[in-house]
Amino acid sequence: MTDSPLAFLQHRLSAPSKTLGEPGPDEAQLKTLLELAVRVPDHGRLTPWRFIRIAGAQRAAFGRRLAALMLARDPAADPAKVDKERHRYDHAPLVLAVVATLTPGHKIPEQEQLLSAGLAAYNLLLGARAMGFGAQWLTGFAAYDAEVARWFALGETERIVAFVHIGTPREAAVERARPDPLARLSDLALPD
Ligand SMILES: Cc1cc2nc3c(=O)[nH]c(=O)nc-3n(C[C@H](O)[C@H](O)[C@H](O)COP(=O)(O)O)c2cc1C
Repeated sequence: MTDSPLAFLQHRLSAPSKTLGEPGPDEAQLKTLLELAVRVPDHGRLTPWRFIRIAGAQRAAFGRRLAALMLARDPAADPAKVDKERHRYDHAPLVLAVVATLTPGHKIPEQEQLLSAGLAAYNLLLGARAMGFGAQWLTGFAAYDAEVARWFALGETERIVAFVHIGTPREAAVERARPDPLARLSDLALPD
């Protein structure tokens, strides 16, 4: 990685999960990625996140179960969508589910806990890219389904905020149009 930190961030982009393949991070690289993931702003030091690895044969097994679940939920589901779920996890060698472990009623608002988990997911994206991998943050219905939460043994106050797919890009990611940043800026204008 020869980019300056600024250039690295200016050119950051996701690598579509379908373009990702072997090799994925080895155990030492995974540890580095997790070190980056937990180095995020965390109001109140609640560490409101954890990570569940989906790798090896578990990826296809997860996809098969998701496809079956989608059909069970809606027998008329679009076959293309069912197929997409079935094969979503076939590409990247490593998928990390980022779980927000929320403490409701805490003086640190839940929104801030959830945001910290989002930052952990984003640091995984940045870290993977900095290490020469490609990565993409996906959710899909799996992130929000109660049955999937059971498969992952999530607690009552836990939420999946991301499935971060990580691997080696087989092709260069295509840049997409980015919003005009200054069009998103306004000035606070309080009356005197
Ligand atoms: C919370 C969250 C969930 C997302 N879920 C999906 C998803 O399920 N499917 C999808 O195609 N993109 C999803 N995306 C978008 C991709 O992660 C990514 O932003 C997109 O591929 C564009 O890449 P970029 O990072 O280069 O802008 C999600 C993004 C966020 C922040």
